[in-house]
Amino acid sequence: MSLSVTTLPGGMSAEEFLRDYWQKKPLLIQQAFPEFESPLSADELAGLSLEEEVESRIVLEQGATPWELRHGPFTEDDYRTLPERDWTLLVQAVDQFVPEVAELLQAFRFLPSWRLDDVMISYAAPGGSVGPHYDNYDVFLLQGHGHRRWKVGQPCGPDSPLLPHPDLRILSDFEQQDEWVLAPGDMLYLPPGLAHYGIAEDACMTYSIGFRAPSHGEILTHFSDFLSQYLGDHQRYSDAGLSLPADPAQIDDQTVERLQRLILELVQDKEALGTWFGRYMTEPRFPEMITAQELDESLLNDALDQGYGLVRNPSARLAWRQESNEYLMLFASGEHCLLPTRLLPLVQLICNQDYLDADQLGSWRADGEAVLLLEQLLGKGDLLLEEDEDE
Ligand code: SIN
Ligand code: CO
Repeated sequence: MSLSVTTLPGGMSAEEFLRDYWQKKPLLIQQAFPEFESPLSADELAGLSLEEEVESRIVLEQGATPWELRHGPFTEDDYRTLPERDWTLLVQAVDQFVPEVAELLQAFRFLPSWRLDDVMISYAAPGGSVGPHYDNYDVFLLQGHGHRRWKVGQPCGPDSPLLPHPDLRILSDFEQQDEWVLAPGDMLYLPPGLAHYGIAEDACMTYSIGFRAPSHGEILTHFSDFLSQYLGDHQRYSDAGLSLPADPAQIDDQTVERLQRLILELVQDKEALGTWFGRYMTEPRFPEMITAQELDESLLNDALDQGYGLVRNPSARLAWRQESNEYLMLFASGEHCLLPTRLLPLVQLICNQDYLDADQLGSWRADGEAVLLLEQLLGKGDLLLEEDEDE
């Protein structure tokens, strides 16, 4: 089983992409997905935006205010009153609702899967755009239908001037460097922080395959929250050997250095950092879509015998880490469990394959610990039983 893919859609080697482009500069890949047909129609996308549990927005260039932002869920009436042109519907995390969209993500396994965020799909009426802006994340923009003119501009940051807007961060200056018109199957990679401006040439759909990167602030606060659970109230700031203060009101450098040593010592714990990171990066976006289920004994084996397979719950996130020679840690939707290293091939199957049937599970079915792990993941709702449609 090959775990990662070594070429990008369109054929560039992953090595070249990671060396020259990832997090560095844009890359246009014409016909990355030749003859691409959007697995979802514009009507189906609009249909998703009527659902309560789906996150959606509409941006109207000339709405009640310039660049008016509306939040879903929408109604059919909302769509009837939209103008002919210059608006965009954006639907978040479509991969969690439409399996054919989730399948696309297999092509991005030249990157760590825990870096993936979601697939956002936009539908734009002719002229539609969300304005010139920059994102803090890497993104692959795959043209799903129709044509979009992408203009790429200057590197931006927190000091880049923005238009006054309560919710949207639209750049007031856009210094165009490049421009391309993307047709279905074309894809543009953009690193974080680069200005971009996509305008629909005709009614079009764009798939944004977005990545996640926790901010330094999030890393620090969440890791220290995690660590502090294991610290006792008796573990306190201490200053034995204190020298006589020149001024009792002064916080001197020695005090600050004492604190610095204490903090560095606390965050030095590599195992704790690995455990926290795995849990944090696998936290699901929609935890309510991962529901615990009651399992009858032998349900798993019976289902596999009847031609069912195991699929990853599209809302679940899975990753693993080698803890020591003997143990590995499996992270599943924000939780972790310690497993013997001999289960590694099974853990890799679970984390990397979309579908596992009786054949793929092979001899694992006769292994008590392996069956227990599969049952636990099924019970938590990270794995689901599904009938193989190809049978
Ligand atoms: C869009 O699909 O209209 C916007 C995507 C983006 O610029 O991030
Ligand atoms: Co963007």
